Amino acid sequence: MTAGSRIVAMGHYQPSRVVTNDDLARIIDTNDAWIRDRVGIAERRIADAETVADMATFAAEKALAGSGLTAADIDMVVVATCSSEDRCPNVATRVAAKLGVAAPAAFDLNTACSGFSYALGTADHAIRAGATRNAIVIGVEKLSDLTDWTDRSTAVLFGDGAGAAVVSAVPEGQEPGVGPVLWGSVPDKGDVLRIEGWQPYIKQEGQIVFRWATTALAPLALQACERAGVRPEELAAFVPHQANTRIIDGIVKRLGLGPDVVIAKDLVESGNTSAASIPLALSKLVERREVPSGAPVLLFGFGGGLTYAGQVVRCP
Ligand code: UT7
Repeated sequence: MTAGSRIVAMGHYQPSRVVTNDDLARIIDTNDAWIRDRVGIAERRIADAETVADMATFAAEKALAGSGLTAADIDMVVVATCSSEDRCPNVATRVAAKLGVAAPAAFDLNTACSGFSYALGTADHAIRAGATRNAIVIGVEKLSDLTDWTDRSTAVLFGDGAGAAVVSAVPEGQEPGVGPVLWGSVPDKGDVLRIEGWQPYIKQEGQIVFRWATTALAPLALQACERAGVRPEELAAFVPHQANTRIIDGIVKRLGLGPDVVIAKDLVESGNTSAASIPLALSKLVERREVPSGAPVLLFGFGGGLTYAGQVVRCP
């Protein structure tokens, strides 16, 4: 048994192809001003030949390189995604094969946009139980495959990418770096955001999701802080799911954060990358050294199924 886990290193990957709002305005009836005002996105990255497993592997390789560990040290690979190309094998085993991880517990987890926090919570529990010592936790999406490029209500929102964390058991006597997860869902409203059946395009009742996100989530995010014993004003950064700047601003207003807190707004340059949005944004904050190592950061994901999950982590 161990006292808990911590994020040792992060990594991320985005495809090189940039698609701007003006690019979209050439193929559908939309415009840059509407997208910036109503959503907050300026551009997004769209994959070409990269598969979900490729993007996940590129992000994981960077996280592994920064962790000081090797593939031989990893005993669990967890991939949060709702856009895997195949039903079987899962993405996690493909990533493990590409990384050269020999015999890990390897599984995918699908809670759409809240997936990274669910996956991080699951890895943390496995480490606490002694079932795992070093896990790679990945959020990855190739939503461009699931986008109806003629539907302006969804086509402007999404992007592709991946973020990954190496999560390890903390040595005896040290404080854990991953706080208790606060997770849940609203099953009776689960259908308001969906990717159904054999013509799998993303559909959502955007206003219902928007209303839920701006009313229900701030108190839940505060519960995640409470579980970690961290007051909101002590947070160094807030990394919410990157769906809409108006949603982020609405939640932030109700959290009571300190004046110097860093608020992740990676969606401006990346769009909404669902399960990848939180690890992608966190990895960039770490890379740019915008948050001191060891400082408390609140992660909070929400989305399809009206699932949500969040936890306070110590910045790697
Ligand atoms: O990641 C998973 C979680 N998902 C979310 O958090 C998404 C939550 N929802 C939202 O962020 C917002 O509801 C959207 C960004 C999806 C939509 O914004 P909205 O302010 O709710 O717009 P709306 O759907 O009410 O549409 C307002 C108007 C409509 O025109 P009329 O009927 O007022 O004439 C739409 O047809 O904007 C029109 N519209 C557009 N105009 C230009 C819708 N999409 C576009 C577009 N370009 N792309």
